[in-house]
Amino acid sequence: MTGAGSGLGASMVQRFASVGMAIVALDIDGGRAQETADAVISGGGRAIALGVDVADRSALEGAAKGAKDAFGSCNVLCANVGVQQFGALDKLSEAEWRWVLDVNVMGVVNTVAAFLSLMRDTGGERRICLTASSSVLLPGERIGAYVASKFAVMGYGETLRLELGREGIGVSMLFPAGMESRHLESSQLAKPTDIPGAVMSQEDIDFMLSSRNLDTAFHVATTEHATRNLLEDLAADRPYIVTHGDYRSELIERNEALLAAFDRAQD
Ligand SMILES: NC(=O)c1ccc[n+]([C@@H]2O[C@H](COP(=O)([O-])OP(=O)(O)OC[C@H]3O[C@@H](n4cnc5c(N)ncnc54)[C@H](O)[C@@H]3O)[C@@H](O)[C@H]2O)c1
Repeated sequence: MTGAGSGLGASMVQRFASVGMAIVALDIDGGRAQETADAVISGGGRAIALGVDVADRSALEGAAKGAKDAFGSCNVLCANVGVQQFGALDKLSEAEWRWVLDVNVMGVVNTVAAFLSLMRDTGGERRICLTASSSVLLPGERIGAYVASKFAVMGYGETLRLELGREGIGVSMLFPAGMESRHLESSQLAKPTDIPGAVMSQEDIDFMLSSRNLDTAFHVATTEHATRNLLEDLAADRPYIVTHGDYRSELIERNEALLAAFDRAQD
């Protein structure tokens, strides 16, 4: 589990531990990853923790070796890290773009690349869960770098599902809506200090929320609520896992516009 030190990742860890799975908790904040592992151990489970930056492929390869040494196998892999960087598209710096893409996109690619051979050796029922975002299904303004990165996660995940399905490894994409977590605080802490600027401003947040009524569509939930169906959805190898929120009509509207474009092309 990457991003295991907080929020959604920590809640997913508790779900997996509740059914007896051994946990490898990875986070750029090694102390927080250890707290997640300690909570599992104090509940009678098995867990290790490692401080890892998902943008660093070699660090993840070291983590995969640590997982193999500790538990010998990997049945479920969650690439869950995602950082937020608010800002209008004409205001984001190149360095901010690269940071978001390095962590949110290459972080997912690196995680899978590092753990895939251990998963292949494990055999049996295996699952990969990639954390995308509801913003792929209903984009909002002022979070363009984040939205673009999560679209890339979905594109990668769709292809991975096709390629690994042949080997019996299921791939699911998770679409959380707003959750009570440390998302903005931990993004600020993880942002390299040589990239100037805050990850958010209240003006950007207000603008985003008002731009498409996102505050009502994405009511904020606890991470416990967001993970309530996770085990069942992964067991059933469902490609898409929506955690909560009601933005069905906006999704239909977008898909109908796409289908209309498709229809026009049939002339
Ligand atoms: N919170 C929301 O409203 C929301 C909504 C939709 C999607 N998401 C997605 O859910 C996922 C989890 O976010 P969360 O809300 O639980 O946030 P969180 O901040 O509570 O947890 C994210 C964790 O990732 C870690 N992290 C950050 N950069 C890292 C890096 N480079 N390498 C390793 N670890 C790193 C942080 O230290 C933190 O512990 C993210 O992919 C996020 O984009 C969150």
